[in-house]
Amino acid sequence: MAASPEEKKTLQFGDYTVVEHLGEGGMCHVFRARRKGDSQDCALKMLKDERRNDEQLRDLFLTEADIALLLDHPNLIHTFDAGEVAGRYYIAMELVEGRTLGQVMVRSQRTKVQIPPDFALYMLSEILEGLHALHTAVGKTGRPLGLIHRDVTPQNIFVSFDGRVILGDFGVAHIQAYGAADPNQALGKIGYLAPEAVLGEEIDRRADIFGAGIVAYEILTETRLFESGTDEQLMQAIAEVRIPRPRSIEPWLSKGLENALMKALAKKPKDRYESAEAMFYELEPFWSKQLGNPHAIAAYMAGIFREEVKEWRARSVPRK
Ligand SMILES: Nc1ncnc2c1ncn2[C@@H]1O[C@H](COP(=O)(O)OP(=O)(O)O)[C@@H](O)[C@H]1O
Ligand SMILES: [Mg+2]
Repeated sequence: MAASPEEKKTLQFGDYTVVEHLGEGGMCHVFRARRKGDSQDCALKMLKDERRNDEQLRDLFLTEADIALLLDHPNLIHTFDAGEVAGRYYIAMELVEGRTLGQVMVRSQRTKVQIPPDFALYMLSEILEGLHALHTAVGKTGRPLGLIHRDVTPQNIFVSFDGRVILGDFGVAHIQAYGAADPNQALGKIGYLAPEAVLGEEIDRRADIFGAGIVAYEILTETRLFESGTDEQLMQAIAEVRIPRPRSIEPWLSKGLENALMKALAKKPKDRYESAEAMFYELEPFWSKQLGNPHAIAAYMAGIFREEVKEWRARSVPRK
């Protein structure tokens, strides 16, 4: 039997040499790896050992692979291979040398170097571009798939050390073209679910708009929105959309920007933006590309992740 990559530091997995553990979510482990013949490392995602025999999860994982392989956009994680080795399914994707937005927000609070609003809005605009590409993705036959991400959270957004912002983890993405999502299947991180998802109603892409609204709110105010309490209390708070006005936390936010955020966070989907693109354009007047851009993000990352960026630079010297 093939050893599980969690057991050893480096091992061979099919065509891949697994180098180190990069991170984990609820269902998967992700490793730094190198495919035979490649000159760059990649990220290899696999179901956790204790989950690998769960048929429903395996099904979701294969759907994730199918969806990921179809997507091609600079703001969506690029997946180039998926398959199975010794009964273990994997997804191979571009490695983002950087941190998740969740880690960036934690570090920014710890170092007391607040993410400047133009940087935050630049990152949001990149996420919205990725989200729009996902929502409008078509299959090989040209048919719109009607994808919904369903898990737009800071843990699934990647910020690279060179300043790119990329949406990843299509693990619970849903293909509407194959039928409505099962409202009873509670998926996605609770604190980022839309009210209609919490209430067990049918969802569409506007649930992702709500998720993007929470991310926007959190990154601009540097506070978690739906965090404290039991799952039930959280779900109650989301269902009632109990949201303090952003300006009560950050008085410097303009009224216009506050209104734009609150529109994404409307309780009823019909009161939100119709598309991620519409939200993108609504936010555009509130930030400057002179201030918010990949160079600025790279400089910010180098400031708050000093050691990590140094290590990354040293590692970027090509290995033999
Ligand atoms: N392409 C990648 N490059 C770098 N790190 C990654 C990549 N994909 C995932 N990770 C790391 O692994 C973690 C879990 O990955 P994710 O795809 O979100 O798995 P899950 O479906 O279990 O939530 C991420 O939060 C991140 O820390
Ligand atoms: Mg995840």
